[in-house]
Amino acid sequence: MITFNCADLICPLCGMPLCQDGGSLICPQHHTFDIARQGYVNLLPVQQKHSLSPGDTPDMLAARRNFLNAGHYLPICGDVIRALEGIPGGLSGMIDVGCGEGYYTSRFHEKFPEARMIGADISKAAVKMAASRTKDIRWITATASRLPVADGSTDAITAMFSLLCEEEFARLLRPGGRVIEVTAGTQHLIELKRIIYDDLFEQHKRPKVPQGYLHEIACELKKFRLTLHGEDLKNLLLMTPHTLRIKPENRARLSSVPSLDLTVEYYVRVLGKR
Ligand SMILES: C[S@@+](CC[C@H](N)C(=O)[O-])C[C@H]1O[C@@H](n2cnc3c(N)ncnc32)[C@H](O)[C@@H]1O
Repeated sequence: MITFNCADLICPLCGMPLCQDGGSLICPQHHTFDIARQGYVNLLPVQQKHSLSPGDTPDMLAARRNFLNAGHYLPICGDVIRALEGIPGGLSGMIDVGCGEGYYTSRFHEKFPEARMIGADISKAAVKMAASRTKDIRWITATASRLPVADGSTDAITAMFSLLCEEEFARLLRPGGRVIEVTAGTQHLIELKRIIYDDLFEQHKRPKVPQGYLHEIACELKKFRLTLHGEDLKNLLLMTPHTLRIKPENRARLSSVPSLDLTVEYYVRVLGKR
């Protein structure tokens, strides 16, 4: 039987603490959630689901896994780990929200093995794939806007190219806790976008000003260069929403390019609770 650490987890239906009972998690009101044999738990009630299979498709997830496993975005991991190391009071509980197939979550767990780690994503396919990385992370299907985690139980929340739900994240953070958010910069993968889009409108992409639940402590724009060939280039296209918008003639153009020099540009923002 799989042992699932329920610390900090609450029932998504009634908000009461969850504990393990055999192969399920159960709350005092008897709401029950099965632990999948892959080691994750679906804590996304149908009422909180806005589509049948929300999130990235299995093809997008597989491409993301192959691309990230090749280490192309390792500098991004390094930046976030440095921000996590700077959290006052240290790190004993953290959540990676929109964890996808779990690459960054696993890297964070390797760096902070003592921290109780949760990887949460709205996509069941993503969480299922993430669970194959390690059973030492609590992988859950959940929505970022209503995470089944106790108030004030979390030192850090990471949102890696996913979404910032300010009010919810502020509820989860303990005093002094931090959100580390990574978002794409204006020039991010610009060389790829120039091939994909015939008329590229370059929007300024600085992250939105917080609405009041969190305040910005630091925001740094980071940049590095990457040269990609063949499969890596294909995976990069497939793992982004651009893959859904590319015209067949531009896809053909991209596949005839032997290699591409790319700009990776992103904001690393640290937010604290007010
Ligand atoms: C661009 S991917 C990033 C995945 C991962 N953080 C990474 O960088 O590899 C965004 C992720 O957010 C998830 N997502 C989208 N809406 C969500 C929501 N409301 N709650 C939780 N996750 C969500 C998607 O399923 C997807 O895995």
